[in-house]
Amino acid sequence: MPKAKPSLLSSFNNRLDLVKPSAIRAFDNEVSAIPDILKLTLGEPDFNVPEHIKAAAIHSITANDSHYSASNGTIALRKAAANFLADRYQLDYHAENEIIVTVGATEAIYTVLTSLLNVGDKVLLPTPIFPLYIPVTIVGGGEPVFIDTSTNNFVLSPEMLTAAIAEHGDKIKAIVLNFPSNPTGVTYTADEIKALADVLRDTNIVVISDEIYSELTYDEKHVSMAQYLPEQTILLNGVSKSHAMTGYRIGFLAGPAELVAKLGLIHQFTITTATNSAMAAAAEALSTEAGRQDTLDMKKAYQARRDFVYQTMISLGFVVPKPAGAFYIFAKIPAGYLQDDVAFARDLAQKDKLAVVPGSAFGPGGEGYIRISYAASMAQLKEAMARLSAYMAR
Ligand SMILES: Cc1ncc(COP(=O)(O)O)c(C=O)c1O
Repeated sequence: MPKAKPSLLSSFNNRLDLVKPSAIRAFDNEVSAIPDILKLTLGEPDFNVPEHIKAAAIHSITANDSHYSASNGTIALRKAAANFLADRYQLDYHAENEIIVTVGATEAIYTVLTSLLNVGDKVLLPTPIFPLYIPVTIVGGGEPVFIDTSTNNFVLSPEMLTAAIAEHGDKIKAIVLNFPSNPTGVTYTADEIKALADVLRDTNIVVISDEIYSELTYDEKHVSMAQYLPEQTILLNGVSKSHAMTGYRIGFLAGPAELVAKLGLIHQFTITTATNSAMAAAAEALSTEAGRQDTLDMKKAYQARRDFVYQTMISLGFVVPKPAGAFYIFAKIPAGYLQDDVAFARDLAQKDKLAVVPGSAFGPGGEGYIRISYAASMAQLKEAMARLSAYMAR
């Protein structure tokens, strides 16, 4: 096994010293060693990929679809994505030059941030937020600016946004919005999105709108930021959550052609193109009636799970913003228990063998909360709530 020349350890991009591995993964690894632990930590759908989608991937392989595709993805999938966005959210994107297929939404986040940022640029991040945006911003030379939304039911208000813009001015290159939100499950109404768009329209801030959970919205219809501010928005979506296809690694981004052309450079230099069989599967998922029905069926199951976990946690004394989408519950630890969320999550894992994510992993405003992913079977969730009830009763 080769050992690195010690002096090479200081040869890396200095910005790597400023980032840490995912706190969610770190906590997940820590508690995985506990025997019989029941984990509701990762945002990973528990469903299998529907058969007709698997068949499309298999067909792509047996048909020798084994050569490089266009860098921005197969035209079949780009058309499927464009039609999906038009059909669900009345958006008008051309498959030819306004959509890029990415390796999961993760690559889209990397591609957009690293394409936009120059050293010293700032990125507005309303928190608590999916943590990935933070290290990608830092490695890209940027500086995250957190806006704590916990005082406003986890919704960024136009006033908060205006104040951040007044404070940081022209240094702000982008804002990342994610709704329905990981970790809170909170989403935005049309009026709330429109009000944010009205503030942003007068600026040169690019809106990176991560709407990967758009299809998992329970009570109200999802509206897209691109409906209100298309000229400034890069929209992110994909099939990881809508079709339980996390391991296929297919996402996409959409935006005005001139911006997408720039993004296509980093995308091409980084990954060349996504995997053909996975793209064929994603095209099947997005373009067929069966694919639409798959999501509706999964959503129905998630909704029943949400209702069960939400009701149980409320009855145990947690304060929980009612999740309107995604598959997470973000709950404030009641008074009288360990108030440090890391200590609480560790104690719960050790004593009653239930693993949840400490809220502080999601940035300012998450302290004192825990995140539960309810993308698990009802049987697992019933056992999890029994363990949580036992812990809280002591
Ligand atoms: C808000 C958000 N964006 C992006 C991703 C990453 O999606 P993908 O698996 O498609 O890369 C996740 C995954 O948990 C997420 O919660």
